[in-house]
Amino acid sequence: MASPFPKDFLWGGAVAANQLEGAYNVDGKGLSVQDVTPNGVTTPRTEGPTEDNLKLIGIDFYNRYKEDVKLFAEMGFKVFRTSIAWSRIFPKGDELEPNQKGLQFYDNLFDECHKYGIEPLVTISHYETPLHLSKTYDGWVNRKMIEFYERYVTVLFHRYKGKVKYWLTFNEINSIVEEPFMSGGIYTPKEELSDQDLYQAVHHELVASALAVKLGHEIMPDAKIGCMVLSMPTYPLTPNPDDVVAAMQAEQQNDLFADIHARGYYPKYMNRYFKAKNINIKFEDGDEEILKHTVDFISFSYYSSICKSGDPEKGKETQGNLFAGIENPYLKASEWGWQIDPQGLRLTLNKYWDRYQKPLFIVENGLGAIDQLITDEDGNKTVKDDYRIQYMNDHLVQVGEALEDGVEVMGYTSWGCIDLVSASTAEMKKRYGFIYVDRNDDGSGTLERYKKKSFYWYKEVIRTNGANLIGVTKKL
Ligand code: BG6
Repeated sequence: MASPFPKDFLWGGAVAANQLEGAYNVDGKGLSVQDVTPNGVTTPRTEGPTEDNLKLIGIDFYNRYKEDVKLFAEMGFKVFRTSIAWSRIFPKGDELEPNQKGLQFYDNLFDECHKYGIEPLVTISHYETPLHLSKTYDGWVNRKMIEFYERYVTVLFHRYKGKVKYWLTFNEINSIVEEPFMSGGIYTPKEELSDQDLYQAVHHELVASALAVKLGHEIMPDAKIGCMVLSMPTYPLTPNPDDVVAAMQAEQQNDLFADIHARGYYPKYMNRYFKAKNINIKFEDGDEEILKHTVDFISFSYYSSICKSGDPEKGKETQGNLFAGIENPYLKASEWGWQIDPQGLRLTLNKYWDRYQKPLFIVENGLGAIDQLITDEDGNKTVKDDYRIQYMNDHLVQVGEALEDGVEVMGYTSWGCIDLVSASTAEMKKRYGFIYVDRNDDGSGTLERYKKKSFYWYKEVIRTNGANLIGVTKKL
């Protein structure tokens, strides 16, 4: 049976600088918001870096990237998604000149990728706002952030044009609503942050994102620049129209971000919300024009779905990727309570395609699980992660279904292709990788890398261009 995946499908994996590089204060790097959040989003931040913060060392990718890229190449990656740590390039964020050593590191990394024919896919800002910008300016609440971001992206585009073709402006830009500090560098505690300031910060990020698209197209005419949103299909808990409306409203809150990136203007449905919350977004001269610079493609993360009800008393709360909702009685959940819903990925792909008619890129998907390192019959250390293979197989089957539905999908980069520190809980034991890294929550471990069973499985998926997936050819 022929595979539904197009010949040039971009198979690969994804990571973020702050979750794996380590070297948090090496070669001139400044502190970022990640260096003061040893427990992810769950506890208050610290004043400065503390030893219990696993991200300070990460998996030492800064020193071991050559070994890791070689492993990605062995799996057959066509693309590798990583982010640039903003505070490596501008340690404080508001300097006029970039840090050359920081720039050199990414030159080396991208060269290493190209050595194996792997195309880098770069997130410009992935939850790693320089701490100075957060403390001094209150992050994206302040309009000056647009200027700092513009300087940063201009440096990146000039430096890496020809080396990086695919760019994402902000990781999960919509998550600022849930996690204003991690996502938007907003130092004001969430409980004290007004809706007005929050949505003004959203506006600043959206303008900055569109500005990056404009500049990127001018500086690198061949580049493709996308937005990146956290997708979270939201189902009505029951067919009760009250629940259906509640689900629609939750989806609109989320769709705002991709709508503006793809269409170039604010959707009308938000007027009602802004009015109800007394939010008055301040547009400056030229903002409307800048927003018209729409993205080349829509990228998104997909892990789970949630339900909503019109009745606030109804349903049991469930966890999800930063966005919580009501538990779906038809779905099972991961060890971290994220409900597993492969068909939600097909629905998401169809929805975005219908809505925007722009190519889609799944840049995060995967299962965070506790792995057991064992020694196999041949004496090799490995992990028999059949649960991860099952999860990814089932999701990729649904990508196949969406392709058959006529959706245009550019590629798929699984999240955390090598074990790294988790974002929401800052743990090592929540592992996503095809490659096991010997590091534990207490900081112990040799940092050695071991191939899991899923390593060989994914290699085969890429080699066969998805033809080996179980169920992929199933018809409606
Ligand atoms: C996304 C982020 O929210 O989900 C990643 O873009 C993150 O940075 C991933 O790691 C998985 O979440 P977690 O909390 O399990 O690491």
